[in-house]
Amino acid sequence: MAHTAQSGSIWLATSPATSYPSLTEDVEVDVAVVGAGIAGLSAALELKRRGLTVAVLEAARVATGVTGNTTGKVTSLHRLAYSQLADQHGRAKARAYGQANQAAIEHVARTVAAEGIECSFRRVANYTYAESDSTLAKVRAEAELTASLDLPATFTTDVPLPFAAKGAVRFDHQAQIHAVNYLQGLGRAVDGEGSFVVEGTRVRRIKDGSPAEVVTEGGTVRSRDVIVATNVPLDDGGRFAERLSLHRSYIVASPARGFPADATFISVDEPMRSLLAVNLGGTDYVLVGGEGHLVPGGGDTSARFDRLAGFAKERLGAEEPAYRWSTQDAMPVDGLPFAGPMLPDSQHVYAITGLRKWGLTNGTAGALVVADLITGGDNPWSELFDTNREVTAKAAAPSSDAPTEAPEPDKALGPGEGIVVEIGGEPTAVYRDDHGSLRTLTAICTHLGCTVEFNGRARTWDCPCHGSRFALDGTVIQGPAEKDLAHRDISVQPTSKLLW
Ligand SMILES: Cc1cc2nc3c(=O)[nH]c(=O)nc-3n(C[C@H](O)[C@H](O)[C@H](O)COP(=O)(O)OP(=O)(O)OC[C@H]3O[C@@H](n4cnc5c(N)ncnc54)[C@H](O)[C@@H]3O)c2cc1C
Ligand code: FES
Repeated sequence: MAHTAQSGSIWLATSPATSYPSLTEDVEVDVAVVGAGIAGLSAALELKRRGLTVAVLEAARVATGVTGNTTGKVTSLHRLAYSQLADQHGRAKARAYGQANQAAIEHVARTVAAEGIECSFRRVANYTYAESDSTLAKVRAEAELTASLDLPATFTTDVPLPFAAKGAVRFDHQAQIHAVNYLQGLGRAVDGEGSFVVEGTRVRRIKDGSPAEVVTEGGTVRSRDVIVATNVPLDDGGRFAERLSLHRSYIVASPARGFPADATFISVDEPMRSLLAVNLGGTDYVLVGGEGHLVPGGGDTSARFDRLAGFAKERLGAEEPAYRWSTQDAMPVDGLPFAGPMLPDSQHVYAITGLRKWGLTNGTAGALVVADLITGGDNPWSELFDTNREVTAKAAAPSSDAPTEAPEPDKALGPGEGIVVEIGGEPTAVYRDDHGSLRTLTAICTHLGCTVEFNGRARTWDCPCHGSRFALDGTVIQGPAEKDLAHRDISVQPTSKLLW
């Protein structure tokens, strides 16, 4: 299949980029918020509304992280989440999870109205649909459970899809948004009256204390409280690496006519497909998401996009994709998000993470939990999202997919050059030093398992996921990774396919 699609999310492609300045001096505010995604900006605005001054520090630009690459569903129906949560944590916690997410939908709706944010906010019904008898039983059970938890749920065999589905659980009065427009609106509402947003400002270190300190290359922010909303927390002593796994998914946006505009969908059957319609710039698109896998792993990403494009064409009558992108989110090992003190003994540093691919609501709810913790109010979900809860240790869970085949170099690796290649089925970071000798390390970042990339300018191995950096001998230069990259003892033959 030809790849004519633009690489990058339809949301970022259809929004002008923001241009906040970088931090260039030391400043003091009440609360420093690290990360301008849904969690950070929602918390920042809430705290500003409560009379505090906030500084939002963003390494890149507002909304360019996971949130800018989302599907855009604002819903409390998370596939079959309630059956799983009730099994694992009991009905009361499943109910609380539903309430937190319902409250988040209404919080987003009120914020859009109060701040006049133009973000194509639209009320829709959201469906988890079944195409086989075995999954039909599952959606029926999810519908019965969620209705009994007072969520807006019904079981229906009337599923408004352009292909046959056996039945679905439907949640009414859900929503969808243009997430980038929404976040940019939050940013505008935060910036001003003693509060501000800075971009291009990567936080390097956070020191708890009175005041707490948030250290960047441009200056230090001193504040009473700090919220770490970097998707996966930084400077957390490795605590959350044990409590999270990373999961990557892929989305194509294809021009398509006739797909229901008042509903969003997710399948129970595998391969999972997540569907949403949007009109942008006068064109109707259908977004098809899926092909998820644990990180590291993933195999041939082109084939993943092709399968999504094939589904859009064959099942939904869509054209070739105009946009395609992928992103990953942090999955909590016990299925519940985290919002609370970052470390067991944190006094003034809070984290919001583990949004389990439903961060538009879970991140909003987490932001409200942390805002309440900071301003001393009660929050009905602080226990549910408790960062200090016992979590079952993460099982080593390699992806079922083959590791990505790294391209072989088409020329010999020169002195001072590095590349990641597959050796013995494992991504391996290979560097040739100025004397011609090879140094080989595992290329799997010790933080959460992304594959590192060679930074030719700095001569380091950098992780694209959360910014960890490693020296040529594998030593950590910069976290969140805590452990060094291990040396890989391989014998590379001069005649090997690697062509050195
Ligand atoms: C394919 C896919 C589809 C999804 N679809 C949906 C959906 O339809 N509905 C839904 O509710 N959820 C969805 N999700 C999940 C949702 O998008 C995420 O849970 C949510 O966007 C995460 O928000 P965040 O604020 O934690 O992270 P981010 O949006 O990534 O924000 C974190 C920010 O922190 C910044 N940052 C990182 N490190 C530093 C540092 N050291 N200093 C300063 N800044 C830093 C980053 O640049 C980034 O901008 C989806 C997820 C995926 C993967
Ligand atoms: S996986 Fe998080 S920094 Fe590498």
